[in-house]
Amino acid sequence: MLGTLLLAACSGGEKAPVIAVSQCSDDIWRTKLNTELSVAARFHGAQVRFSSADDNSARQMAQIREFVAEGVDLLIISPNQANTITPAVEEAFDAGIPVILFDRKIDSDKYTAFIGADNVEIGRMLGQYLADLLSGEGEVVEIQGLEGSSPAIDRHRGFVEAIQAFPDIHLVASPYGGWLEEGGRKAMAELVAQGVRPDAVFGQNDRMARGAYEALGRPADVYFVGVDALPDGGLPDVMDGVLTASYLYPTRGDLVMDLAIDILSGREYARETRLESALVDSHNARMLMMQEDEIMGQRAMVENINSRLDVFLTQYNSQRMVMWLLLILLVLLFAVAAIILRYYIVTRRLSKQLEETTAAKLAFFTNVSHDLRTPLTLVSGPLERLLQEPLTPEQRGTLSMARRNVDVLTRLVNNILDFRKIESGKMPLSASRFDLSAAVKEWLSGFGEDRQLSFEAEGPLEVEADMHLMERVLFNLVSNSYKHTAPGGKIAVSVRSAGGEAILSVQDDGEGIPPEKMPHIFEEFYQASAKSSGTGIGLALIRQVARLHGGDVSADSTLGQGSTFTVRIPLRQKGPVQKTPSDAALYTEQFYDSYAPADTRAKEATDRLLQDEDRPTILVVDDNADIRAYIGSLLEGEYRILSACNGREALQKASQELPDLVVSDVMMPQMDGLEFCKALKAELPTSHIPVILLTAKSLEEQRAEGYDSGADAYIAKPFSEKVLLSRIGNLLKSRIQLKQYYLETDGTAASPKENDFLSRFKTLVRERLSDSELSVEQIGAEIGLSRVQLYRKVKALTGYSPVELVRIMRLKTADSLLKTTDLTVAEVAYEVGFGSPSYFSKCFRELFGRLPAEGR
Ligand code: FRU
Repeated sequence: MLGTLLLAACSGGEKAPVIAVSQCSDDIWRTKLNTELSVAARFHGAQVRFSSADDNSARQMAQIREFVAEGVDLLIISPNQANTITPAVEEAFDAGIPVILFDRKIDSDKYTAFIGADNVEIGRMLGQYLADLLSGEGEVVEIQGLEGSSPAIDRHRGFVEAIQAFPDIHLVASPYGGWLEEGGRKAMAELVAQGVRPDAVFGQNDRMARGAYEALGRPADVYFVGVDALPDGGLPDVMDGVLTASYLYPTRGDLVMDLAIDILSGREYARETRLESALVDSHNARMLMMQEDEIMGQRAMVENINSRLDVFLTQYNSQRMVMWLLLILLVLLFAVAAIILRYYIVTRRLSKQLEETTAAKLAFFTNVSHDLRTPLTLVSGPLERLLQEPLTPEQRGTLSMARRNVDVLTRLVNNILDFRKIESGKMPLSASRFDLSAAVKEWLSGFGEDRQLSFEAEGPLEVEADMHLMERVLFNLVSNSYKHTAPGGKIAVSVRSAGGEAILSVQDDGEGIPPEKMPHIFEEFYQASAKSSGTGIGLALIRQVARLHGGDVSADSTLGQGSTFTVRIPLRQKGPVQKTPSDAALYTEQFYDSYAPADTRAKEATDRLLQDEDRPTILVVDDNADIRAYIGSLLEGEYRILSACNGREALQKASQELPDLVVSDVMMPQMDGLEFCKALKAELPTSHIPVILLTAKSLEEQRAEGYDSGADAYIAKPFSEKVLLSRIGNLLKSRIQLKQYYLETDGTAASPKENDFLSRFKTLVRERLSDSELSVEQIGAEIGLSRVQLYRKVKALTGYSPVELVRIMRLKTADSLLKTTDLTVAEVAYEVGFGSPSYFSKCFRELFGRLPAEGR
């Protein structure tokens, strides 16, 4: 295709017509003609091709047929003989090729046009001329051209016609000379041999006249005339007196070519064109020769120009070729650029679509996950409770299976939510310092025994990491290995450190990953094997968590032999690190279990508290009645339960009832959990009440918000019963510890707000220590709390009622007065506000286990 294009480009678009010239012979007249044809063809932009038959009719016919077979556009034919060549000319004509006959004719009308001189007229003129020279008397010999060729016939006819008018002129012989000098010489020689000695010789061309002149021995008294008058033939012979006269037989190649182009272009043309000619004798030969010289000089110049033009044309063509090549190259370049651009746009659109699809998938999963959390809580909680009951092994098996699957679902939901959070940059790293080896060991204890799970660690490895997220990483890695190993397969987990990094690796002897899938396994929603049933989130989450820690994950796999996943994280984090992992611990059941002893202590302490107190009151706030009922049912054995369905109602109930603890949802209508918590903590009567926030919207971001609002703990749904109970126990325990702390050190409360409250209380009491009339109402009025509020608050913070607290303060002051002064017991009793020394002594002994006088 390119080749065709180039050819078309280089030929200038239009194809040059091919014109074939079939010459009957090869001589100077035809050479002159051919030259003229070539020059004219170049002028017209035509291609011209020549053949010569060397006076052989059979050869000429073959040559004509060849041109026809080639499919030339036009034929210019000068037939050797009229009759013999006719069939070939007719064939060409019938084949639809235009045929121009020039100089000679055929015996048929099947040609397109004829151009040539009037040979009858030429013969007649020369006959007349000789008759004049001979003054109408004498013998004449005519040497004819080729027998059967039209000029020979016509010239003879004209000549005979002319001399017939002169009865004393006798045409003694008309032999044929075949248009050749030698032919003329031979024919004349034969006549001389027969005793012919003419007064004049008419050669049908100059060459044959010259031959006769030679044969007659160059006589000076015989007139010789011929035809053609060529500048390198008859013309010099006329000038030299060899010939008396000649007749100009015009070649006019220019006119022949004009005619051809007219025919090819479909222009009008004359079917018969007669070329003018004239007699040449000693009078005009010189002038004619000079003209011919000039013409030849001009032709040489034209040819010179032409050949230069050829050079220019060649250069021009090659430059044009280069230009076209450049142009084609440019077009190709544009095409390639367009293709690349299109490819780029399409792939961009595709990758955008892919991104959008991934984002939409993730958004969908996230929404579903949020929605799954509450029902999951309502399934997992009751399941756990049922498992506490006495069950038959069968029932336990079924319930355990259900719980395992709820756990799987919970993990899945958590994975998706965590992934989404990390991806959107909303998951800050909540790092704490802990022993990774111990933690991994602990986390692994949750996995089933149908795989040979081994664990290896160099020893304790202290890392700074988000414990909750690292547990997720381990769980996902091991779950992934479980998924891809058969029961009984080996899974080896190891923890070590190298180059400032903690390296956690999980190796399995499972099916392995095909090499072509390896680059994609950490992409979200990618599943390496068609059989695997995962969401394609687990490994993606691992990578995210590893990178969030400033590390990364890599995988090695041999198909059929197994895979190794290696997570590396730096041992130390750049950001802030919590001192203890206690907060993180709340997010995992396994970790919770490892902290069980502390919680047992908490429970015992609560129990102690319960012995001499009413059961602690817990306010449960949630807009979901099922959740309220469920939490209520979890707590009602040990606690008194109040409930509210939104923050506003809860705030009202809390300030009325002053519960010991609040468990509240975050997402609620009217007033959400965060707002409620803030409001609760802002009011003095309720500011000490511990709040646990529960929410379906998990994660660190909200946890931070929760703490900002003053919440004491934060638990994500679906929560475990154990975690909730433990957290409640821990918070109540911390209040009890605080009470002891206060008792032992006369110290301060945990929060600045409560601290402030207690120091105001103590200052007030100290100022009026000796006032035995000081009442709780008075203190309450000073601080701005009612009697009940003051009672509840002081009791919650210190474990003592206000009256008891005032008494303890009086007695402690008394104790130091007894130790540091000489005052009597009675004086001291009055000094610290006791109205009766004996009642003082009784109380003193109750608190310190000794009498006031003892130990002075
Ligand atoms: C050239 C020639 C001329 C003559 C003409 C007749 O081939 O022989 O000399 O005039 O042909 O066709």
